[in-house]
Amino acid sequence: MCGIVAYIGKRQAYPILIKGLQRLEYRGYDSAGVALLNGAMHVYKKKGKVQELINFAKTQDCEGTLGMGHTRWATHGKPDDINAHPHTSGDGRLTLIHNGIIENYATLKTALMRLGHTFTSQTDTEVLVHLIEELQRREHLPIEEAVRVALTKVVGAYAIVVMDKTEPNKLVAARKASPLVLGIGQDEFFFASDASPIVEYTKKVVYLEDEQIAVAHRNGAYELRNIFKNQIEEPFVQQLNLTIEALEKGGYDSFMLKEIHEQPKTIGDCMRGRLNAEEGWIKLGGLEEYEQRIGNAQRFIIAACGTSWHAGLVAEYLFEELARIPVEVEYASELRYRNPIITDKDVVIAISQSGETADTLAALELAKSQGALIYGIVNVVGSSIARLTHAGSYIHAGPEIGVASTKAFTGQVTLLTMMALSLGYKRGKISKTQYHKLLTEMENLPSKMEQVLKVNEQVKYIASEIKDAPNALYLGRGYNFPVALEGALKLKEISYIHAEGYPAAEMKHGPIALIDENMPVVVICNNKSAYEKIVSNIQEVKARKGIVIAVVTEGDTIIKELADYIIEIPDTEEPFAPLLSVIPLQLLSYHIAVMRNCNVDQPRNLAKSVTVE
Ligand code: F6R
Repeated sequence: MCGIVAYIGKRQAYPILIKGLQRLEYRGYDSAGVALLNGAMHVYKKKGKVQELINFAKTQDCEGTLGMGHTRWATHGKPDDINAHPHTSGDGRLTLIHNGIIENYATLKTALMRLGHTFTSQTDTEVLVHLIEELQRREHLPIEEAVRVALTKVVGAYAIVVMDKTEPNKLVAARKASPLVLGIGQDEFFFASDASPIVEYTKKVVYLEDEQIAVAHRNGAYELRNIFKNQIEEPFVQQLNLTIEALEKGGYDSFMLKEIHEQPKTIGDCMRGRLNAEEGWIKLGGLEEYEQRIGNAQRFIIAACGTSWHAGLVAEYLFEELARIPVEVEYASELRYRNPIITDKDVVIAISQSGETADTLAALELAKSQGALIYGIVNVVGSSIARLTHAGSYIHAGPEIGVASTKAFTGQVTLLTMMALSLGYKRGKISKTQYHKLLTEMENLPSKMEQVLKVNEQVKYIASEIKDAPNALYLGRGYNFPVALEGALKLKEISYIHAEGYPAAEMKHGPIALIDENMPVVVICNNKSAYEKIVSNIQEVKARKGIVIAVVTEGDTIIKELADYIIEIPDTEEPFAPLLSVIPLQLLSYHIAVMRNCNVDQPRNLAKSVTVE
């Protein structure tokens, strides 16, 4: 969703805001804007990337030690200069930036129009800044109180920052269901959607709680209050565990390519201190805390969206096979609205990279209210989902900035695999010998992933052969069926080629009609079980002249004879197949997108974290 950054202190705000916006650009990039206060209020907004704003601002007055910046992912109103944030009150006194949705904006707008307000944009955000203006005018409230009272009248989700021209020593911010972090420096403060714009100035941060409003004063004081109770709340000050290097490309052409190559390290980090094959244990803090209840659950319900949902599908195979626990995998957006039957005997597992996905959050709230235990598998530390859950485990993949998720997927699957193995062993569903064998192989996975990455040049060649295809099909069986879905999603989102993922056997029930000599069919074949069945599926594709790209286990001679292109990856135990087979598919989509001149890190229409439903 949108990215927010704001500053008050002694430094010039503009460079801080621009650098912050560039770091936040992964959250939305259809327009960007800044507001700076230096006696006068200057607001500059431009459709397009942050660079457009920089080009425009070169000839403008960018002085000021108080300011705010925003990068937008449009919800209400098309992406253009007018709908870009910040938005200004009718009297020009206030500016406001917003991430989220004001659901009752239409009602508020009508009421404000009756009072004489006129609006220039189509956004819900402009309505909010006019509402604050109206309260200020009627009740003569200080800015923080006018904002607080306005928010009690608002239905929806928001992270906002507000500046008042007449109160240049204050910055006011608030959140409900959209992330916002306060950075505390020496006589200076920062607000941002995540810590990335703040990290080089201070490591001291407070993640605002839901329904909190914050006022930061130029003199170094700050205060947090509950919006509805109007009571002061104690801040929970944390030390950031984030480095600048983690936020930069480190010599790669794109974040996505960097993140693909980081995977041997990130899955290693995910396992570090949690798995020891020699001593035969897996320790996951969150799991141990609720061991009884999780181990005796009547079923697991997994709620997630997009790539995280695909990780959930892998987990269905893992939990059912290794731990013999029944699993249902749900799109969070469907679960939340279909009156599901959830009881206190269920464990609901939320999978989310950002920890902020609105649908996943809402599904969890529903499940929690029905008594289920909520377990989170999250990447972003301190995120809303991490805080809502009863227990959970971080995947420790580090910041994922490329919009297309790669290392978060393998981190999620690694974590879920450890969970399944641990539960399976403790529930007596896996023998000690089997457990030891699987743990030993898991420890080998980072170095096997390194080997998989060596197929890069070969994958690049295959990409050059199929890059102009308008469609593609991805087929897999068992553990590799979710990988087929994930491969297709990666191709769609960054190269804009239409792609479908299918369980290989389902091909005969429809998609086979699409196959001709122009159709690339990526078949993931590093399975041990159902191997012969996959071979038959490839023969069926070849009989219709489809172009087969097969991901196979090293040394496979049978499929080599049949496929047009093969990508060999190291052998592994069947439950770990997705962790290796997904990597060539990530690389394939990456190279195709680059060859088609697509922006790999910031694909059109997408945003990294979807904080609206
Ligand atoms: C795809 C992708 C999205 C996310 C989805 C869920 O590459 O990144 O499909 O997986 O929006 O996001 P999180 O995991 O943050 O809840």
